[in-house]
Amino acid sequence: MKATVITYGCQMNEYDTHLVESQLVSLGLDLVDTIDAADFVLVNTCAVRGKPVDKVRSLLGDLRRQKHERGLVVGMMGCLAQLEEGQQIARKFEVDVLLGPGSLLDIGAALESNQRFWGLQFKDELHDHIPPAPQGRLQAHLTIMRGCDHHCTYCIVPTTRGPQVSRTPASILKELDGLLEAGVQEVTLLGQNVNAYGFDQGAKIAGIPSFADLLRAVGRSGIRRIKFTTSHPMNFTEDVAIAMSETPAVCEFVHLPVQSGSNRVLRRMAREYTREKYLSHIADIKKHLPGVVLATDIIVGFPGETEEDFQHTLDLYDEVGYDSAYMFIYSARPGTPSYQHFTDLPREVKTERLQRLIVKQKEWSQRKNASKVGSIQEVLLRGNAHAEGFLEGHSRGNHPVVVPKALGAETAGIYPVRIGHATPHMLYGAVLGPNGEALPELPRLTPEAAAVSSPLSMV
Ligand code: 5AD
Ligand code: SF4
Repeated sequence: MKATVITYGCQMNEYDTHLVESQLVSLGLDLVDTIDAADFVLVNTCAVRGKPVDKVRSLLGDLRRQKHERGLVVGMMGCLAQLEEGQQIARKFEVDVLLGPGSLLDIGAALESNQRFWGLQFKDELHDHIPPAPQGRLQAHLTIMRGCDHHCTYCIVPTTRGPQVSRTPASILKELDGLLEAGVQEVTLLGQNVNAYGFDQGAKIAGIPSFADLLRAVGRSGIRRIKFTTSHPMNFTEDVAIAMSETPAVCEFVHLPVQSGSNRVLRRMAREYTREKYLSHIADIKKHLPGVVLATDIIVGFPGETEEDFQHTLDLYDEVGYDSAYMFIYSARPGTPSYQHFTDLPREVKTERLQRLIVKQKEWSQRKNASKVGSIQEVLLRGNAHAEGFLEGHSRGNHPVVVPKALGAETAGIYPVRIGHATPHMLYGAVLGPNGEALPELPRLTPEAAAVSSPLSMV
């Protein structure tokens, strides 16, 4: 049987896709790249906003047609699968296999059962499960905890992913060993709230290190680069910033979602911190990590957000000076407290505020990225860029970077790159040789490649 997994949503979902794909391979299925080539299509879903749900709905409509035409087997996994909303969708589109985020290891039982199979339990076995390392890749994700104990009023994740469960350091470090053996050079530690690692349901688990100490332990493994996501300001502590500064492998990048700059909105979101507390974390981070790259998540148009509240978000952006931000229009999700208790703002108000926030984000990203021109960044080049003759990757600060292929830098690897040009979204540069000289570029073969290179000629 040939199978393919289509992934929506966050890095957690990417990790879970890899986990399930490994299971499929061990069950004897062949993985293929396209739906057309597959007999079994599994859709890994996201439920955090209405848009990803709409995408899943339209894909499942198409898959139902193929199910009738050619007997395709259709599966749905991930956050949406856990919700009543998702189960209704699954019934409507005649989904055969449905697996919630806690039941991923039931995939074998589901395929064996040869009939409709729904798995929705949160099973402990997942927490000790170590998927095989991805092969031929320099970057990998490593889930250190699942679920979330917070109850932000807009968020469906505590329902879809259940309460927080931290994995043991032994299991995490064993998985890391496998990644190192497979040649992985950058690991991203994943959790809904990594700063609460080891404090499940509010209680400290005996014998489990703090997140700061886990960073130190991962740093001792010999891995070249460590990133982590995502941090909750409520649980952020200065010792994390200190551990980052003391552990050379930990990249100088912090993603600290603020959601809003207004205390009134933060209260209504039940975020459990104030603007002032958030800014004090930023001050700690900047103190211990000068030159840190900062990213955030912001929701605009939360119910009851006034123009004055929104102005507080804009001026917080200026006060922090973020390098980048993920910005979302509030989406009322059935099953969340804010959906139940608050009235949604008109769509035009929300989109107009988003536009203004995007202008702010672009200004800051341009300014921050431009300040990198002339600097040397350590870049993990993942592989070919869209444009022929170029490689793409990420800096330690998570900036996307594009370089021309050069003699000595033809393939993936970690290289020093001198930045020559910046846009709000991208840094362009040239790989440096051992004496700091730019390596000679490889000749570009096609006129298309030459044309693409011209906007980069400032490099
Ligand atoms: N509407 C809009 N954005 C949301 N997020 C989570 N729930 C919602 C929602 N209901 C955003 C938050 C979170 C990111 C993953 O998605 O900013 O940090
Ligand atoms: Fe990831 Fe949240 Fe979407 Fe689930 S709902 S896939 S945890 S972003």
